[in-house]
Amino acid sequence: MKKVHRLSENEFRDFTRLAKPIAGDSRLKCMRKYIQHGDKSTYDHCLSVAYTAFLLNRRLHIGAGEESLVKASLLHDYFLYDWHNKGDRLHGYHHPRIACENAQRDFDLTEKEKAMILSHMWPLTLMHIPTSREGWLISMADKICSCREIMQRRLS
Ligand SMILES: [Fe+2]
Ligand SMILES: [Fe+2]
Repeated sequence: MKKVHRLSENEFRDFTRLAKPIAGDSRLKCMRKYIQHGDKSTYDHCLSVAYTAFLLNRRLHIGAGEESLVKASLLHDYFLYDWHNKGDRLHGYHHPRIACENAQRDFDLTEKEKAMILSHMWPLTLMHIPTSREGWLISMADKICSCREIMQRRLS
């Protein structure tokens, strides 16, 4: 029987095939140096968001384009610094733009993929509303993963 809350072996194979070209890139692996929430690195956070967005898409039959979904999820927080040390209280508002600029510099992105990265913090970034199924999924998956990471830290 199919598990609702995690990918089956075949689904995980599909996910890995899409994630590997980006997640295996040495520039992306730089995010392992930075903490996102609790003790989770930004790299691990982005992987969790990609996994969760892919899972939601499959379970809810949303029909999002999986290649773009996984790619933009992996790059959605590609801002490349530790936001705890940078001391900028507006990080939440402007990091999607920084992540998008970095991602666009280092990888080939479509306009739709750029929009997915820019809108992932909505409704905090009021003007950047997700405009695609993929964008909504990333925004939702990001909130689920962030809450889980913060809760895990508080309960540990
Ligand atoms: Fe973010
Ligand atoms: Fe995030």
